[in-house]
Amino acid sequence: MNISKSIKQFNTFGLDVVSNDFNIAKNEDEIINFLNKHSNNNPIVLGGGSNILFKKDIERPVLKIEIKGINVVKEDSAFVYISVGAGENWDNFVNWTLRKDYGGIENLSLIPGNVGSAPIQNIGAYGVELDSVFESCRAISLENKKVKIFHKIDCDFTYRSSIFKEKLKNKYIISRVVFKLTKKSHFLKTNYKPLKELIKIKNISNPTIQDISNLVKEIRSSKLPDPKIIGNCGSFFKNPIISKNKLEKISSIDKLIPFYKLSDEKFKIPAAWLIEKCGMKGRIEGQTGTHKEHALVIINLGAATGTEIYNFSQKIKKLVLKKFNILLEEEVNIID
Ligand code: EPU
Repeated sequence: MNISKSIKQFNTFGLDVVSNDFNIAKNEDEIINFLNKHSNNNPIVLGGGSNILFKKDIERPVLKIEIKGINVVKEDSAFVYISVGAGENWDNFVNWTLRKDYGGIENLSLIPGNVGSAPIQNIGAYGVELDSVFESCRAISLENKKVKIFHKIDCDFTYRSSIFKEKLKNKYIISRVVFKLTKKSHFLKTNYKPLKELIKIKNISNPTIQDISNLVKEIRSSKLPDPKIIGNCGSFFKNPIISKNKLEKISSIDKLIPFYKLSDEKFKIPAAWLIEKCGMKGRIEGQTGTHKEHALVIINLGAATGTEIYNFSQKIKKLVLKKFNILLEEEVNIID
């Protein structure tokens, strides 16, 4: 018998949508059992629900991954290898590593979501991306229901993407991830401008990984709304990568455009800046809008529907396209 369930508490937009076939997997066997029944029905895999927008009630079967466990599987004098269940909360895991003084993911503090989704979109913040600490993951094929190990080289990690979002989209379910973290001589990443500035302001001369985590938490909380209080999915769009030619064109209209040079020909620019320049920062329309501190974060004021949020996001996309001739790409997964 199918179980109907509101998944309001399982999506950080806080949308009150109903799943007509809701399932939970606490281990790999339960994923395989689920797939034996549902692999042909285009299932939706739910992690922390922090990067997903449901436009309406869900007919497709839903599998919520609740595989737990944080285990050291190998270590040498410099590195520790930790296997983590896909259903562990990401920030709880970061805090666990800080308590053990294992370094590498302190800059990724306070990112909502679960461990299993982290490699799919190669989560990143404040100068660090997940691929820098990713060793391998276990994933179950929807086709043959067998476990396959993916090493870093197999995953095609790029900015906010991986093979699991591209070539193998909806083909595997990640059950565990192995991270390689430092035990000592941590490589601190402090180049991200607001982080660097805060270290200076606070006069911290030899920051520890715990210090970095605290500073990142401070910066994040000052700009990004807490999804437990205001429904949101963090950045709604990716930061676009544009050509030198295009950057020069925009600079000739507004020379203050911020950019990050990727190569001589490619530049990443903040989608938030483009949206703000279209007059959409802090704009509220009905039950949705953009956050007043950050134009890239679309919020649910409480009673928005998925369609309302989606239509608002498409309005932003149109305005940016019209003004800058740049087509923003969603970072959030949209489920019709
Ligand atoms: N900016 C504006 N208006 C705003 C906000 C920002 O013009 O309302 C401009 C500023 O020039 C600022 C620049 O955008 O310097 C960059 O802003 P921010 O540092 O907040 O970073 P972001 O590019 O908007 C990315 C990630 C975030 C991550 C931060 C910090 C993407 C799509 N987003 O945001 O990730 O936390 O950098 O590293 O790459 C997420 O993926 O959900 C997420 C929150």
